[in-house]
Amino acid sequence: MQQETSRGTCPVGLLPATFDAEYVAGAVAPFLLSSTYVGETPSLPMIDLALSKEKAVPPQLWGLLYDDWEPNPEEEGVTVFMQGYENRGPNNEPNKISVSAVTPDLIATKYRPKLVRFYERLFADSNAGKPLMGCYFDNYYDLYWDLHVGATGDAVPNEVRQFSAGFNGVLGFKFPTSDLVRDYYMQARATREALKEWLHTRVQAIIDGTVKDADTTFVYYWLKNGGQGEHFRRKDIVFECFHNFLAFSQWGNMVYHTAEVLQAHGGNPEVRAWFEKTMLSGPDQTDNSFTPLDRFVMELFRTLSPNAGSLSTFQPRQQSLSGESSNIYTPHLSTSMDPRHWRDPQAFDPDRYLSAPTTVDNDEHRAAQAGLARCPFPKESLGFKDGRNGEVTNSAFGAVYGVVDGEPYPVCDTAGYAPFGFGYRRCAGEYLTVEFVKEFLRAVWKQKLTFEKLDLATAAKVPVNPGTVLDDNIGFQTAA
Ligand code: HEM
Repeated sequence: MQQETSRGTCPVGLLPATFDAEYVAGAVAPFLLSSTYVGETPSLPMIDLALSKEKAVPPQLWGLLYDDWEPNPEEEGVTVFMQGYENRGPNNEPNKISVSAVTPDLIATKYRPKLVRFYERLFADSNAGKPLMGCYFDNYYDLYWDLHVGATGDAVPNEVRQFSAGFNGVLGFKFPTSDLVRDYYMQARATREALKEWLHTRVQAIIDGTVKDADTTFVYYWLKNGGQGEHFRRKDIVFECFHNFLAFSQWGNMVYHTAEVLQAHGGNPEVRAWFEKTMLSGPDQTDNSFTPLDRFVMELFRTLSPNAGSLSTFQPRQQSLSGESSNIYTPHLSTSMDPRHWRDPQAFDPDRYLSAPTTVDNDEHRAAQAGLARCPFPKESLGFKDGRNGEVTNSAFGAVYGVVDGEPYPVCDTAGYAPFGFGYRRCAGEYLTVEFVKEFLRAVWKQKLTFEKLDLATAAKVPVNPGTVLDDNIGFQTAA
């Protein structure tokens, strides 16, 4: 497909001559041949096993993750994000190991200082009036690596930063047919080996006990609770450490849209009123499974829905010549807004979670009430091996949650609460993500910050989520 440079005599390719053949074959062609379909809005909080997570990745992204432009999980590592249920061991082990590193007790004691420090930097007086997302990304990569492997600042090599920017650029700008994405893609590929080497060294240092406060990193818990076994091998830990950019990228999207709805002018008055009410009435009261601030954040997630849908592969029965790489996604926002699930789905109402079912409620009895002869997913627990007393277990519908010192930390388990997906493949980072947004709101409240659209000639384009690029056009003001 590449075109020759001598004019007049040679065939002309469909893509710019700067796109080398390997990139066209590995990223552009799979993208052009792929289709994505919208699936049903679930009635129960789970996705049928016929819609599989096995290799459920947009096909143009394989070259971003693997050397030979196609999945090579055995040799190069794998993440639970792309594993079918049948390949996860007897009890959805990789998801449970992932969750074991981010349970609420660890967030409270090990990770919160990192989150608080992040917002102190983001909301420094010197950033007032500047485009918010630019300031966010000045600090984000340090937070990311600090949480994963305990490294910040100069301890994060330049190649690692280049990889991170390349990876995020490809996710956000999405279209491999553009020069921009091609450049980001090749930047990520060129630096991936150095990144992996660095990660191997950091993981080894955590194993050797030479990283200060190693127990404030995810890798520490993945090593302990995964035991470097079959379902969280060392190469999988390295892979997870960089693939997680995909998950974390959504934090930026959520921060921007939360700031947007909180704006004094042009924001959402209903959300603003609830924010004030929540903060004035004791945001951290433990009057329910979820505190008032949890409920407010959950309602933000339900209504803003930063992740559009859960992507699956499926078995073809009859397939067109180009149908090889078709995916299907189960939509989140329309499920969260489905009148089958809530009487008033369009209203912003955090109190809906006072009575919504949780993973603790959804047991054998609930499964029977739903008309099922048995629980779709057996209740299986993974005990902590990191010195804590507790386990990671699951609801009747497969959603995973932590129990520490006998205290369960449920998540809302109804199909109408869709922002973190469904069942056994539900987001493993939900607790941490909710806390990240809670810390954002705490900082906004404490510092009396307000958000406003900035009067900019041109706003910078910032890639955040997969397929999402934002105009960086909101800034904060401190109280006068
Ligand atoms: C705004 C932030 C986030 C949102 C909206 C979000 C949403 C989701 C959704 C919808 C899924 C299900 C995908 C599917 O079934 O196809 C998912 C899966 C997952 N998320 Fe998140 N996520 C976020 C942040 C995070 C973070 C920070 C982490 C890690 C600390 C994380 C770890 C995971 C993992 C490991 C899975 C795969 C679960 C499995 O298949 O078993 N996520 N996430």
